[in-house]
Amino acid sequence: MIKVITYGTFDLFHEGHDNLLRRAKELGDYLIVGVTAERFDRERGKLNVHNSLMQRIEDVKNSGFADEIIVEEYEGQKIEDILKHNVNIFAIGSDWVSKFDYLNEYCKVVYLERTKGVSSTQLRNEKQQIIELGIIGTGRIANRFIPESKYVSGVTVKGVYNPNEKSAKDFCDKYELDFYSSDFEEFASQVDAVYIASPHLSHADYIRKCLERKLHVLCEKPMVLSKNQAIELYNFAMEQNLVLIEALKTAYSSGFIHLISLVKSGVIGEIRDVDATFTKTKEGNIREFDPNQAGGSMTELASYVLLPIIKIFGTEYKNVQFFPFIKNEVDVFTRGIVEYKNGTGSFKVGLRVNAEGDLIISGTKGYAYVPAPWWKTEYFELRFKDSNFNKKYFYKFDGDGLRYELNEFVRNITLNLNHSDDYLFKKRESIAIIEIIDKFLNSIKK
Ligand code: CTP
Repeated sequence: MIKVITYGTFDLFHEGHDNLLRRAKELGDYLIVGVTAERFDRERGKLNVHNSLMQRIEDVKNSGFADEIIVEEYEGQKIEDILKHNVNIFAIGSDWVSKFDYLNEYCKVVYLERTKGVSSTQLRNEKQQIIELGIIGTGRIANRFIPESKYVSGVTVKGVYNPNEKSAKDFCDKYELDFYSSDFEEFASQVDAVYIASPHLSHADYIRKCLERKLHVLCEKPMVLSKNQAIELYNFAMEQNLVLIEALKTAYSSGFIHLISLVKSGVIGEIRDVDATFTKTKEGNIREFDPNQAGGSMTELASYVLLPIIKIFGTEYKNVQFFPFIKNEVDVFTRGIVEYKNGTGSFKVGLRVNAEGDLIISGTKGYAYVPAPWWKTEYFELRFKDSNFNKKYFYKFDGDGLRYELNEFVRNITLNLNHSDDYLFKKRESIAIIEIIDKFLNSIKK
């Protein structure tokens, strides 16, 4: 019996897929089709797949050509599959010519002529209306956002707003955007959605104005600095059928998502402490040190360190304590403890202090260690008393990571998820984090 194997994402199953599977099957007697896992696609930078793995498997099955369907989960799996299934022929479309020649060592490699004029990418673009995005703010983060946005399909950055016209114009020229404006109404009338990257204290007002004008909003963290305001704005967005998401990149990246799922599944037992640190050393007369612009380590960095704490222990904490070091009215360093019924969340944030930026999750059976910079979660280890059980996990975190939050924003708009609480980062989690920052700001006012 001649066994043939082929692989693909098979998103929005089309004629090209059908032709390929038919010809692959004709090469032998038995066809195995490997369909890519969602995580594998995300890891190799393919963020825009529309159909779920179940749907894509179903489509391949319905083609009637596959005798067996397997899931492709990691790089290097092809060799293992070929050996395990005693495969004679590896077949793939001609867009991959020469890329899989290395498999000749294990079986015959056949490149089949690709069907012209059709692809999942093309169908996705036709299906998806392209969201026209405007950016509010032209600072450092806005500058990092533009190159990242190129990796996300279904969205294009159209224009920029800054009350300072020259800043808006310079930004527009630099990134060759379609327009700039210092007039909010004019700006808002030209886009479908906005990314807010302005100073903290301006967020609430901009969010409200954007929602009133029926625009979806992706807002830099911390979204706002008051719990009540967060609740009010999230409710307002839901009433208006609009998506409002806080841009906290770690929450949307595969490594972090997997880490949390593993810990929640009990592999290291019951969790007693989550200890997260994020510090930077900043100098000069910058926004981060300005009390009038809500500067300080907590407003700048607490969203990150509170994320794993809230994800693991939940939003119902008993108490929270802060130990800040204040200079010129802003906290340049703060240590904090969030107290829960069965454990503690410990954190350190600083703008003028150096500390190891790692994350340690301590459980009754073992612990998870995520080395610095843990907020990118490219690598972590589960460690146990018997080190034979230790396990290492590796992930890809591309670029600045802003593409992950934008991708989630686009996905939510496209799938109309504004009414559900199905975001990778839930509204109640975002509200709990904002509440802790709010409590901190009130505690240092006294
Ligand atoms: N394929 C083909 N003809 C096409 C499109 C795809 O023969 N017009 C083949 C690919 O070469 C591959 C298989 O179908 O062997 C699965 O490809 P996949 O990447 O899932 O499909 P694409 O349409 O190429 O997807 P994308 O646009 O996301 O790259």
